[in-house]
Amino acid sequence: MPLVPYYIESLQPYKAGKTINEVQREYGLTRVVKLASNENPLGSSPMAMEEIHKRATNLHLYPNGGLNLRTVLAMQYDLKVENVIVGSGSEGIMSNIIRTFLCDDDEVLTTEGAFIGFQVLAKSRGVAYKTVPYNNWHYDLPALSEHITEHTKIIYLANPNNPTGTIFSMHEFEAFYKTVPERVLIILDEAYFEYARDNPRYPDSMHYRYDNVITLRTFSKIYGLAGVRIGYGFAHEDLITNLLKVKLPFEPSTLAQAAGIGALRDKEFLHKSLEINSRGLEFLTHSLKELGLHIVPSEANFIMAVLDNEEEVNYIFEQLLRRGVVIRPLKAFGLPHCIRITVGLDEENRILVDALSKILTKELV
Ligand SMILES: Cc1ncc(COP(=O)(O)O)c(C=O)c1O
Repeated sequence: MPLVPYYIESLQPYKAGKTINEVQREYGLTRVVKLASNENPLGSSPMAMEEIHKRATNLHLYPNGGLNLRTVLAMQYDLKVENVIVGSGSEGIMSNIIRTFLCDDDEVLTTEGAFIGFQVLAKSRGVAYKTVPYNNWHYDLPALSEHITEHTKIIYLANPNNPTGTIFSMHEFEAFYKTVPERVLIILDEAYFEYARDNPRYPDSMHYRYDNVITLRTFSKIYGLAGVRIGYGFAHEDLITNLLKVKLPFEPSTLAQAAGIGALRDKEFLHKSLEINSRGLEFLTHSLKELGLHIVPSEANFIMAVLDNEEEVNYIFEQLLRRGVVIRPLKAFGLPHCIRITVGLDEENRILVDALSKILTKELV
């Protein structure tokens, strides 16, 4: 009997993108533009930062398990505290979902090329991980319905989806939901919902409040708090009660909670972030298409390009690095011929397009 189970042995440890300092050092550059991790190019919500500073006292005391932030979220969404969970990023909550609900014979079902964080968490539990292909880079909900078996326990849907940036509509979700047995838990990962919610086709999952759906959201993206690790989820109180049995009792940290509470008040930062993103997304969509790239229209803060093959991906990635621009190749997601580019500040987007244009016309450095 080996010490490490085969399903752990076969995993690849998460490889974060290169940091700005690493790229500067490796390529001898003074300026590096990082468009690799769907972070907010404006930085962090000022109100979140203010709240962190205010709460940076009494840190010798343990946190209260998230109750302060849960209370604020419950008020804001007109829910009971018992319907709300918070954790170390939405991935922290996802990890608890995996530990709480999956048994050895269960199956997880999602799309091919799903968000890498979910893939790793689900596979680390050693259960069967089933996927269906994308349909034109969208979740194929009818095909997912057909693949539900008596063993299916969790269906993972990200809306908007990372890495494609696409959404499924209210109509599509409602039709799909009717085909899912109540014993199956649907994770609706809405890490990017703020970017899509003004689209009338977008199904805000809070509208439904189904008993077997858990909504996950995060402060990492639009609120610019990825480094703080704070996310939240909404679900039926029975689901939350069981998740709380498994959650580390002292996550999230006192300062992470404070950041979340401050961020929720920061309407101005939210508005500014949305504005800069929609302008940047339009510019990138238009410019990348003009460069002849196959772009998938996005509803989030990033855009995916489908290239010819992995060699082309590696070539463009490396050439961009030399010019001080970091993007995300998607091999780890299972899409070796695709890249993902995060929307940056106006100037950063222009630097990327300019560099890409030179690379595609073979102006090498
Ligand atoms: C779809 C999706 N879900 C969840 C996350 C993780 O967010 P968090 O930082 O809250 O763990 C990400 C981050 O990239 C994401 O793209």
